Amino acid sequence: MTRSLQLAIHASADAAGMSLATRISHLVDHRPDAIIGVATGSSPVPVYQGLKRLVSAGLDLSQVVWFALDEYVGLPVGHRESYRCVLERILIRPLGLDPARLHVPDPHRATPEDVALAYDQEIVAAGGVDLQILGIGANGHIGFNEPGTPFDSHTRVTELSSRTRLDNARFFSSLSETPGMCVTQGIATISKAGHLALIASGKAKAAAVAAALLGDVNEDCPASALQLHPSVSVDLDPEAALLIDERKLGVAISASINGH
Ligand code: F6R
Repeated sequence: MTRSLQLAIHASADAAGMSLATRISHLVDHRPDAIIGVATGSSPVPVYQGLKRLVSAGLDLSQVVWFALDEYVGLPVGHRESYRCVLERILIRPLGLDPARLHVPDPHRATPEDVALAYDQEIVAAGGVDLQILGIGANGHIGFNEPGTPFDSHTRVTELSSRTRLDNARFFSSLSETPGMCVTQGIATISKAGHLALIASGKAKAAAVAAALLGDVNEDCPASALQLHPSVSVDLDPEAALLIDERKLGVAISASINGH
C-alpha cells in the first residue's frame, strides 16, 4: 500500500485550522458535492472559522454533505451541548448552510443501537466520506473510540472513558450532567474515508499525537489506526508537535513552522 502522510506544524492553532480549511476548499472546488466528515469539540473550531472566511470570500459549500463522527446518548432532545446543536452553532449557521445536509446520529429517533446500525448504511448510501476531520483525545481516542476499541469496529453505542468524560465536563455545568454514553463511528467506519485529516493543538495532545504517529499500531492507541490509512494529513500547532521527532517519523514534515 502506498501511504501518504502530510504533516505540517503551524505557528498557531488558527493557522493549522486555516490550512486544513484551504485544503477542504480545494476539494470542494474539484467536487462541489463532496462528503465531509466533521468532528466536534475544540480542535476543529479553527477549521470551521477558516471555512467561514473562505465562504465570505466566495467559496460555495452549499452542495456539500456533512456527516458527524459521534453524538451523546442521554441528553434531552435539543440540548445545547448535543453534537447536533453544537455543529449547527459552530458550522451550519455561521456558514449559512442547510441543516438538512448535516447528518448526526439521532439517538432519539429509534433505539440508539438501531440508530448506530443505520448510520453506517447512511454513510455508504451517500457515497462514503471523502475527507474526515478528526480531533484526538488525550488518551488517543478518535471519534469516541476509546483505548481497547478493535480496529474493525463500526458505528455503535459505547461508553466514554472516565478521562474523556472529565475532559468533556468543561462543556457542562457539572460532571454528573456530562453524558457517559454515545453513538460513535467505529474505527473501521472512520478508516473508510478517502482522506483522514487530523488536527490538534496544545501540549495536552502532544503525547497522544506522538503515540498515534510514531507509536506501535494497536488498540491501546485508537489513533494509531491512522498509520494503516493510505491518505492522512496532520495539522498541528507547535505545542501539539512537541514530541514529534521527524527522524523517527520517517517522512519529511511537509511544511515546517509556517508564518501564518
Ligand atoms: C468529537 C470527537 C472527539 C474529539 C476529541 C478531542 O466529535 O469525536 O474525538 O475530537 O475528544 O476533543 P477536543 O477537540 O475538544 O480536545
